[in-house]
Amino acid sequence: MNQQAAKLNAQLEVEGPIALELLSEKGRSIFFPRQGIVAQGLEAKSKAINASIGEGRDDEGNPLCLSPIRDLLKIHPSEAFSYASSFGKPALRDLWARILREKNPRLGNTPISLPVVTNAITHGLSVAGYLFINEGDEILLPNYYWENYRLIFSEAYNARLKTFETFRDRGENVKFNLAGFQEAIMSEGEKKIILLNFPNNPTGYTPTFKESDAIVDIVRHAAKEGKKILAITDDAYFGLVYQSDIDGESLFARLASLHENVVACKVDGATKEDYVWGFRVGFITFAGKGLSSKALAILQDKAAGRVRGSISNDSHLSQSLLLTAYNHSSYKTEKALAYNLLKSRYEAVTAELAKNPEYRKQFNALPFNSGYFMCVEVSCGDAEAVRRELLENYDTGVIALGNLVRVAFSSLPETQIPKLFRNLNLACKKVARRGQN
Ligand SMILES: Cc1ncc(COP(=O)(O)O)c(C=O)c1O
Repeated sequence: MNQQAAKLNAQLEVEGPIALELLSEKGRSIFFPRQGIVAQGLEAKSKAINASIGEGRDDEGNPLCLSPIRDLLKIHPSEAFSYASSFGKPALRDLWARILREKNPRLGNTPISLPVVTNAITHGLSVAGYLFINEGDEILLPNYYWENYRLIFSEAYNARLKTFETFRDRGENVKFNLAGFQEAIMSEGEKKIILLNFPNNPTGYTPTFKESDAIVDIVRHAAKEGKKILAITDDAYFGLVYQSDIDGESLFARLASLHENVVACKVDGATKEDYVWGFRVGFITFAGKGLSSKALAILQDKAAGRVRGSISNDSHLSQSLLLTAYNHSSYKTEKALAYNLLKSRYEAVTAELAKNPEYRKQFNALPFNSGYFMCVEVSCGDAEAVRRELLENYDTGVIALGNLVRVAFSSLPETQIPKLFRNLNLACKKVARRGQN
């Protein structure tokens, strides 16, 4: 093992032994190369003659840049063309940490690491996988999850996705399956990795206040019983909650100070929160009652080390644009407008389903109250056949997932919502009839 990594681990053993226990082999070996090119470049930064920079610069020291690109930008070339740090742009990291506290008041003054910038949330999850998952480790998560977790965690790190039923029953009193979650976390073995994504893709569900209190209680209880828990929250759709009984704060806010045996890892980003899917800016942030500020800094270093070793650093242009937006006087107003548009589509979907109880013969909605999506379970059981029927005869595209059809109301003009469900009803009927013949 590299000496720099060995030193970090020795410090972590004192400053946050739970984090050291939870780190994977790869996570133990990774470090941010403070003695290499990056560090030497920093030392050379203020020198009159600086031959350390691996970029093209003009005679004034500005980035060499091509005018067809430069002319499109209203920001200084040094904010876009040059490399950003592997940790991310310092001002953006500071601001995201501040906003994160504002958006999650329960976090209070709980210490958290400074967020490290990743190539959006997918990459942040992959960094978490690198740091914490050994071959064969189980990740505990609800059975309705974002399909890409398989590539991110199973294919890349050989994790086993161990699921529990998301919902306990499908009647009027549908509830998040707390018993299933408890059983999963209390199962045999000490190291437990939980992955919670609310608002959820694909269901569009976020636990109610009561349910999220219970989730936190279950994690606390497991930690007290000696489980060593890594709690990853994928907060991709943070903020998009449409009902007053839902806990809009990230579970991270409470997991961050829950128990000495819990390390919380928040993966979030601008992608959906700020409507910039192609910008690729995300963050990974750590916290834990058993972690000193030094331990948090070590986890930051390890995350930035992995960034350096995978993408080197994230888009400087995207980071600068976001930083400018967050400081803009109309940012909050604009964001509220976008949120209201999505909320109105959510309401149009719920109204449409309420207005047409006969649809329930063909499909039943799973609980949804947030995010981009809702799912229906098709009575014929063959969502793929329904999807094909919709494509071929109804000019309509949806996603089929087993016996579920996922509808992204986030991208659907409100005027199309009634027709979409009418089409879905007709397509389901046709497929069911075919099945009977
Ligand atoms: C649950 C969940 N996490 C993460 C992502 C990926 O986000 P990003 O585009 O920031 O990588 C998505 C996108 O679909 C998602 O649904």
